[in-house]
Amino acid sequence: MENVLITGTTSGIGKTFAEKFVSMGNNIILVSRDRQKLEQQQLYLQKKYHVAVNFIAYDLSKEDAVDLIMEQICNWNIPINFLVNNAGFNECGLFTKTDISKEIKKLSQRFSIRKPLGIILILHN
Ligand SMILES: NC(=O)c1ccc[n+]([C@@H]2O[C@H](COP(=O)([O-])OP(=O)(O)OC[C@H]3O[C@@H](n4cnc5c(N)ncnc54)[C@H](OP(=O)(O)O)[C@@H]3O)[C@@H](O)[C@H]2O)c1
Repeated sequence: MENVLITGTTSGIGKTFAEKFVSMGNNIILVSRDRQKLEQQQLYLQKKYHVAVNFIAYDLSKEDAVDLIMEQICNWNIPINFLVNNAGFNECGLFTKTDISKEIKKLSQRFSIRKPLGIILILHN
């Protein structure tokens, strides 16, 4: 049994990853923004698969997101074995025609979470 941290779990690929990991008997920590969806997902996964499901409702594009996640995981004292850093969104279309503010937000979200979440893995392994 491993402890898995997955970002972006309330829909799409991350949601599928989350169910796959718990169906294999792993405990999971879910990270997304929508608290209500996370609560529903937690109840559903715990009831169906009888594993430990924790969640952190937070916007990963915020400056302090990584600190907050690290602090919460340290408080829970859960050693993380796997990270699926999936949260994000796509802006489709020609680069010259897409919304530059969305492109910048996308980049800041990706760059701000990748490196520090790697630190979580180092700290807890
Ligand atoms: N689907 C594709 O064809 C495709 C192709 C290439 C790459 N990708 C990448 O794969 C990843 C998942 O794609 P998807 O299609 O499954 O996306 P999706 O259905 O839109 O799901 C995105 C997930 O990330 C969460 N999320 C988004 N922004 C967040 C933020 N700022 N902080 C915390 N959580 C956030 C969303 O939940 P909340 O709204 O509750 O926060 C949701 O659970 C993305 O990074 C995307 O860029 C997807």
